[in-house]
Amino acid sequence: QTIYLKDYTPFGYTVEEVHLTFDLAPSATRVTSRIRFAPTPEAVDKTFFLHGENLSLISAKIDGEAVKPNPTDQGLTCDVPNVPFTWEAEVQIDPAANTALEGLYQSNGMYCTQCEAEGFRKITYYPDRPDVMSVFTVRINGPHPVLLSNGNPVASGDGWAEWHDPWPKPAYLFALVAGELVAHRDTFETMEGRKVDLALHVRAGDEGKCAFGMQALKDSMKWDEDVYGRAYDLDVFNIVAVDDFNMGAMENKGLNIFNASAVLASPETSTDSNFERIEAIIAHEYFHNWTGNRITCRDWFQLCLKEGLTVFRDSQFTADMRSEPVKRISDVIVLRAHQFPEDQGPLAHPVRPESFQEINNFYTATVYEKGAEVIRMLKTLVGDAGYKTALDLYFERHDGDAATIEDWLAVFEEATGRDLTQFKRWYSQAGTPRVAVSDSFEDGTYTLSFAQHTPPSSATPDPQAQVIPIAVGLLSPDGDEVMPTQILELTQDSQSFSFPGLSAKPVPSILRGCSAPVELEHTPDNAFLLAHDTDPFNRWEAARNLAKASLLGTITGGTAPDGGWLDGVAGLLSDDTLDPAYRGYVFAMPGQSQLAADLHQAGTTPDPDAIWAASEVHRKALADRMADVLPDLYARHQVDAPYAPDAAQAGQRALGNTVLSLLSLLDGGDAAQAQFDGATNMTQQLAALAYLIRAGRGDAALAQFEAQWKHDRLVMDKWFGLQVIEADPDDAADTAKALTLHPDFNWKNPNRFRATLGTFSGHHAGFHAKDGSGYTLLADWLIKLDPVNPQTTARMCSAFQTWRRYDAIRQSMIGKELERIAAAPNLSRDTTEMITRIREA
Ligand code: ARG
Ligand code: ZN
Repeated sequence: QTIYLKDYTPFGYTVEEVHLTFDLAPSATRVTSRIRFAPTPEAVDKTFFLHGENLSLISAKIDGEAVKPNPTDQGLTCDVPNVPFTWEAEVQIDPAANTALEGLYQSNGMYCTQCEAEGFRKITYYPDRPDVMSVFTVRINGPHPVLLSNGNPVASGDGWAEWHDPWPKPAYLFALVAGELVAHRDTFETMEGRKVDLALHVRAGDEGKCAFGMQALKDSMKWDEDVYGRAYDLDVFNIVAVDDFNMGAMENKGLNIFNASAVLASPETSTDSNFERIEAIIAHEYFHNWTGNRITCRDWFQLCLKEGLTVFRDSQFTADMRSEPVKRISDVIVLRAHQFPEDQGPLAHPVRPESFQEINNFYTATVYEKGAEVIRMLKTLVGDAGYKTALDLYFERHDGDAATIEDWLAVFEEATGRDLTQFKRWYSQAGTPRVAVSDSFEDGTYTLSFAQHTPPSSATPDPQAQVIPIAVGLLSPDGDEVMPTQILELTQDSQSFSFPGLSAKPVPSILRGCSAPVELEHTPDNAFLLAHDTDPFNRWEAARNLAKASLLGTITGGTAPDGGWLDGVAGLLSDDTLDPAYRGYVFAMPGQSQLAADLHQAGTTPDPDAIWAASEVHRKALADRMADVLPDLYARHQVDAPYAPDAAQAGQRALGNTVLSLLSLLDGGDAAQAQFDGATNMTQQLAALAYLIRAGRGDAALAQFEAQWKHDRLVMDKWFGLQVIEADPDDAADTAKALTLHPDFNWKNPNRFRATLGTFSGHHAGFHAKDGSGYTLLADWLIKLDPVNPQTTARMCSAFQTWRRYDAIRQSMIGKELERIAAAPNLSRDTTEMITRIREA
């Protein structure tokens, strides 16, 4: 059954208040609801339909009189009075049997919830749609020391607690937690003078992993006040860490629930990247309090209204806390690695989709990351001041609303006077625009010409021209900047821009900072830009372009690694005036599936083995080229100070480890062994372990690591993942398969499943092994997981989305696996939708 944006109609009733009582029992939890409904006078459709799934209805009453509702597929209908009335229902649910991790479920004996998008209907009968907002009062009865729900605590006693959330909210923001948890506490005083009690609730034993997350929360609260003028609005803010969770985290009002991996951190158990990710996710969920909770979405088609904006806000936060250019580079790497393939394959959809079968399948890189890029472009076009005025107006006008993209764009139009009719296409058209560039120089005038073209897709068969802000700077032939960054607004299919008064033909630096989520068709003077560009992003891009060209030359023509790339990168790696973190990125070569995409784009069928081999050759060439300087470079990027997860230290370690990876190709792993043996933090330990595996001498270290960390699930996820990602292509499937037989491979735990099979599907040459063993392995596991956890299964199907890039034999093998998955009995709606869309390619 397909749901369409165009079919939106409001619910015929408002919900004035909601009272819920939970009597907790693992297999027989009773949920009693008392809900005050009032018919909306202007409503056309007065059907009283309440969603409900997997509920046993015990009793239902209206205004105290027993009623017999009519069950439907997905809920119930009932005859109700045409005046305000009180609905009461008692249902029974089975949290212990809830392996889908949606609704109320148990994780290690702890009760927790996940309601976004449509999980509340598995808790009780309710109009489970985001435009129905109400004030919730919750009573929890259960023999657990910690009993939490949304809002402020009202009262509690032995075995019970009551919560009241004064802010009207949709049901998807409901949350409940009950269990034996320890709290790490702190306080924050808002700019409005409100004293907020903060708590991070974790399992006993995890207390030592809370301090960083708590600091990140306080930094986020302060940042949102300083930068967006938004203060927190309750007396408490609770965060709970949960081991079994389908995604990163969830912004439930006043009670954020986190995947343990997205909040728990300590230097011994977490890498610098883990710390940075945790800081960003804490910020993301906190920022949702305004962009998502106070202003929510009218319907799920508007998901990017909260997600695109909140991702954009968390990226601004990380840029402020750490390094802006480094954050931009890492965001663009993610965008290209995850969003571009989605936008260019069978799963392509607009940032605001127009139809879906299962909304969980649309929590995508397009909605999140491209959604954030669209806001970034909007800010570039209207300027910082225009953006601020528009956002102030958005908060003022829509506080308490369930809003739409039209509402969002209207505040920008009003605040800035700009017509956004054409810009709105970014929300309605799928596909990555391609921009071709040409130039000329005559009589001191330099002219840049652009032609844009978005490849048609089944989602958008007839794409129209987009508004594309192109940031451009010009450099003189001797490397001085003769024109600092300007924003050119490309709105037509093709358009030229002239720059008069130049004494010589300049070298252009185009799409600085990746000012739009497009692909350029352009061969810039990369060696020159790598040496001279003032824009750090484009300087990195130049290094990457050189690496890419060199790699593609090796893959398709067997040529040796390009000397220009080697010289340029070697120069930057040793340039101590540059931020070490940035230098780490300059070294990083394009990923192997990225190269496969580039080959496919150029009309060549990618050969995963050849791509793997070329990448190895390039690493080795760089190591040889730098052999003389590596030991010293390594020594100079060791941190003596006590471990801190800040950007400065993390950058040192990142570069030090990059250098170690090269060194390991020359010394057989001796330096890596020394680092492993002496490691005092996970960043050093894990990197050294990776290079030992690559050097073919990882067995002892892997065993030692396992013995040291077998009690720690999050560290063991790394142990599972690392062996898979570092395996040689020929061994990757066998390695992953062997790990699925390990006694600690708890496949029902999404983190462990993803660490093993998700990582495997990201091992390009291993997953695409010629004999098809990789495809079969993944399909076997998806078929096994689907009845247990449809959401995680469906998400991982996207590993197959690029199948049409490959040769006929691989396509036929993947086609058979897709067919086999599709034919599995009782396949979930989630997985059915994904497989159907992928197969239609
Ligand atoms: N709103 C959450 C976040 O972005 C994610 C919820 C994901 N839900 C889902 N059904 N996939 O922070
Ligand atoms: Zn979010």
